[in-house]
Amino acid sequence: MKILAIETSCDETAISVVDFKSKYKFEILSDIILSQIDIHKEYGGVFPALAKREHTKNLYPLFLKSLKKAGLLEKRKTIQKLEKKEIRKLEKILNRDEENLKNLIDFFENYKKPKLSALAITYGPGLEMSLWTGFNFAKALTTIWDIKIIPTNHMEGHIFSSLIKKEKGNNFQVSKLKYPTLSLLISGGHTELILIESEMKYKLLGQTLDDAVGEAYDKVARLMNLEYPGGPKVSKLATEWKNENKNISLPRPMLNKPNFDFSFSGLKTAVFYLVKDKKKMTQNFKQELASEFENAVSEVLVKKTEKAIKKYGIKNLIIGGGVSANDRLRKDFKNLEKKFQDLEVFLPNKKYTGDNGLMIALAGFYRLKNGDYLKNPTKVFGNLKLKMTCRINSK
Ligand code: KG4
Ligand code: ZN
Repeated sequence: MKILAIETSCDETAISVVDFKSKYKFEILSDIILSQIDIHKEYGGVFPALAKREHTKNLYPLFLKSLKKAGLLEKRKTIQKLEKKEIRKLEKILNRDEENLKNLIDFFENYKKPKLSALAITYGPGLEMSLWTGFNFAKALTTIWDIKIIPTNHMEGHIFSSLIKKEKGNNFQVSKLKYPTLSLLISGGHTELILIESEMKYKLLGQTLDDAVGEAYDKVARLMNLEYPGGPKVSKLATEWKNENKNISLPRPMLNKPNFDFSFSGLKTAVFYLVKDKKKMTQNFKQELASEFENAVSEVLVKKTEKAIKKYGIKNLIIGGGVSANDRLRKDFKNLEKKFQDLEVFLPNKKYTGDNGLMIALAGFYRLKNGDYLKNPTKVFGNLKLKMTCRINSK
């Protein structure tokens, strides 16, 4: 079963074409990510209108390239004009995207329908303007091809990203889970502890009350005059700090609160007060600050996760989202396997920590297999929650 997946929730335009051989085995036919980081850098963060413009511009060439790479792009012998009613449908869906309306009419008239079973699309959470571009593009394709569209939750995608296991060549496996599983999702927009009671049954245990972990990393980086995205740069500075002396001490917000919620804005404010009167930040100071910031983040994340592992008798722990690229956190979470005998910790391959299309293909495939998805999605949701199941409203 071949699925094409489109991800445009933030600042990467990504498309994957995946051939699912069985529930746990798949082959990647094409997997391309176009990052907009260089464009957003000068704004110190993602600039939504620019992100939308870039997605709009990139989607069609990326789509053609993906089909070609997957061996699914086949030209018609003669041009086949679309019917008037088909064009009207397309105009309705792409009424704000003239560029892709023109592109897709041209595509349908010149290329055959590829052998795909469904399209998976991120419909939230994320930047609404960005989400709409991918969503409408996918809607236009599925309407003319008359195949299924599977609206997919971006965060569920991050969970699946961590379960990808390489087999051979382009063949991969999805790791089988033992329940109850716990997932800690840490990205630029989210910090969530999710209990997975059985396949795709989610319960939110706690989340950040203010800034997400990645956001805190990015803000602290800015205070240290480091470029966006700051996470990797703060992390690099932290690893350079080898000194045992402790001159800086940052708070551990919510560490001992009797719940699973987080808060990171106080940590960023504490860093702000430390740097605000400094005329010049020495490299030593920056390194120690970055290191202590990472100590604080890690301590809070790991302690809260440990508490949930104990309380719910967790067998598998999945760490996902952009911040899971962080080496210090990866090491600290992997170490939990030593502390809890029966625990297995799943970390995403570094290639799949950030946003990608493959994770959307996987989450979409499982939703499709379970018949658990909205059959006729009409809009995107910037604040989409990871539902325990969509089954109730999928009819
Ligand atoms: O999941 P993601 O790619 O996009 C969102 O959905 O938000 O996460 C991006 C976030 C950014 O805040 C970035 O600074 C952070 O992940 N990040 C890191 C590292 N690599 C990326 N944070 C800490 N350490 C890293 N190595
Ligand atoms: Zn993400």
